[in-house]
Amino acid sequence: MLRTSPFIAALMLTSLVACSGEDPAQPGPKKDDIDEPNPFAPTDLEDAVDALATALGDQTDASGVKIAVVANRHSNYWTPAQIGTGRAASSIGCFASFDATSDGESASQVEILNRKVGEDFAGISVSAISASGIEPAIGNAASNALNVITFDSDAAAGSQRAFYLGTVNYDAGKAAGEKMVELLGASGGKVAAFAGLSTAANAQERVQGMKDAFAGKNVELVQTYFDEIDFDVARTNVESALSQHGDLAGIVGVYAYNGPIALGVLEAQGKVGSLRLVAFDLDPSTLDGLAAGTVDAAIGQRPYWMGYLSVYSLYAMKALGPEQTMDVLKPWLSGQNGDVFNTGQDVVTPDTIDHYRDYLASLGISSS
Ligand code: BGC
Repeated sequence: MLRTSPFIAALMLTSLVACSGEDPAQPGPKKDDIDEPNPFAPTDLEDAVDALATALGDQTDASGVKIAVVANRHSNYWTPAQIGTGRAASSIGCFASFDATSDGESASQVEILNRKVGEDFAGISVSAISASGIEPAIGNAASNALNVITFDSDAAAGSQRAFYLGTVNYDAGKAAGEKMVELLGASGGKVAAFAGLSTAANAQERVQGMKDAFAGKNVELVQTYFDEIDFDVARTNVESALSQHGDLAGIVGVYAYNGPIALGVLEAQGKVGSLRLVAFDLDPSTLDGLAAGTVDAAIGQRPYWMGYLSVYSLYAMKALGPEQTMDVLKPWLSGQNGDVFNTGQDVVTPDTIDHYRDYLASLGISSS
């Protein structure tokens, strides 16, 4: 039977955290702190899971159903997404695989998708390395009766995927840009951006959002460096930027590892604090950097929920059919074609890092 309360484990963890905080030597948490919901808890996403679970009701055996979640390239950013994927599969009782390419090549991702079709999977959720390059594989899956959605990074307009589930990347880029404008204040200055996959919609949209946030302000994006999720290239890019643009005032790390790598270079060159640093995502080093004040802000995404909702949505599409599933999800869908499930974004700063860490602990994860 499907249960509507997949959060019991997380709630138990919250209670454990609360209990362990009851050190008699320390002043206890104030009543308000206990009653206040954590500002980072995405209740709308929990509601979407509940709506799907309710629509599914008592389903017959799900054990024969296989769902594939396919990320772009290996990195620890995906760990919470893997956990969400596994927990949703466990709640439903189906099987879910989590894959990513080791080389960041679109052709490798196409191969993974085609393999899933041959292995009788019911549905695929994919974060497209190349917005256009992935389409033939999506078409192949769809014509073999698999349901396909995109997550984290969408396919190009006109894709046969049913909907996109993830951050609205343009808005997230804009939020990063606005934060940088605020941090640089009256003096403004030059900013460099460091991003991963040059062919992925998420990187392109974030950079566009950032540029639009700088338009008409005293802040200039001097260059965007891509590294295709190669950490060595990412490091060299930061070193080159610092030597090419001696008067750089700010750095935006567009993918999860870009902020931590930039921070590492700044540390090595004794430049921490002399430039403003805005990261994407809450990698363990970004969390530590925010707590120490060496990272000024981070734009958080919700990869745990992208994994969780990918599996729930694709299972519902198999069990109830795509149309009924889209009907259930309608309140959460937006965008011109009503095919974007916005999982939301968070702006995390040194002032709010403790709340954010509490939220992660409530899910039993240590990064996002
Ligand atoms: C992006 C992912 C990417 C990851 C790399 C995230 O910001 O959304 O597409 O794989 O960074 O660590």
